[in-house]
Amino acid sequence: MTVTHDSTPRSAATPDASNADMQALALDLTDTVVEVLGSPDGQRVTHHKGVVMEGTFTATPRARELSRATHLQGDPVRVTVRYSNGFPSADPGSDGPDTTQGDPRGMAVKFYLDDGRRTDLVCQDWPVFPAGTPEHFRDLLRAQHEGPEATERFLAEHPDVAAAGAIVDTVGAPPQSWATMVFHSLNAFRLVDAAGEGQWVRWKLVPDAGEHSLPEAEWTTADPDYLMAGVVDELPITYRVMAQLAADEDQTTDASKAWPADREWVDMGAIEITGKDETRETGGDVLMHDPMRLIDGIEPSDDPILRIRSFVYAESVRRRSGSACPMHLR
Ligand code: HEM
Repeated sequence: MTVTHDSTPRSAATPDASNADMQALALDLTDTVVEVLGSPDGQRVTHHKGVVMEGTFTATPRARELSRATHLQGDPVRVTVRYSNGFPSADPGSDGPDTTQGDPRGMAVKFYLDDGRRTDLVCQDWPVFPAGTPEHFRDLLRAQHEGPEATERFLAEHPDVAAAGAIVDTVGAPPQSWATMVFHSLNAFRLVDAAGEGQWVRWKLVPDAGEHSLPEAEWTTADPDYLMAGVVDELPITYRVMAQLAADEDQTTDASKAWPADREWVDMGAIEITGKDETRETGGDVLMHDPMRLIDGIEPSDDPILRIRSFVYAESVRRRSGSACPMHLR
């Protein structure tokens, strides 16, 4: 069997790609996800079961040194946080149980700036993404859909995807609650300070309550909505927002590979969640989180997964709301 060495991800989803090319790839990816995972009509293509919370974010002095972004200057900023289960339910008639193992659960944070701008930080609990390019992610989904033999063949031909999958397989126990999970941005971003100097980082949200799984004996007996319903019993929920600083030689375009563990983590601030949000997703409001919705002081990497997410999420919004409303309204 020929083994292709895939250490440099190649993808059509680059910053230079035309909008039409990106949209075509995003459509293909969205259709694949819908077909393989069985996404419900009229809802988010993935991550449809969720709960929206409200709170504040307050940056540390170190954050201000690293970035000139408005919300990183130290004044408290209003946030909403949407927690979500990742995959659609295997049972098309239901939202699916919160106890699903190996589900990529999400924590999407929206920062509301005083001048009306918004910026998003969209994280999930897998420690790496299972593929380095949108095409490999799509092809992995297709192979898994086809069956064990096709999956084995695909992984043998794509050792990088196999290696990332092995890491993802080490996590996946259902959490004790939303307050006891660690979330990762996976994609890299460049912080830019007041002098214009840059630093590549990856984000991690670390709960003050520690990381705890649901005891295995409860995996089959827990209430199917224990995460969504139980979140109000955990309030206030607090996280440290951590940034891992890349060294010059670290790659910034492949979310399927972690940076060396000895890279410094910096405490950038605290998120405090105080209650359920009653303002978003009411009266036709469309709430959408886009990891490319960035403000001055934070720049995107050329990671093809990051670039395609924007297009896929817009397509998901179009399908679930029929709206192509401007990003700033979301
Ligand atoms: C090519 C890879 C990916 C695909 C195809 C994909 C697909 C999607 C789609 C279709 C949605 C629904 C968007 C909406 O209707 O608002 C979504 C939401 C989400 N994705 Fe991804 N995603 C990918 C990668 C990632 C990565 C790398 C992360 C995190 C590190 C992530 C975290 C999330 C979260 C947290 C949400 C829920 C947002 C919310 O609560 O509104 N996704 N994703």
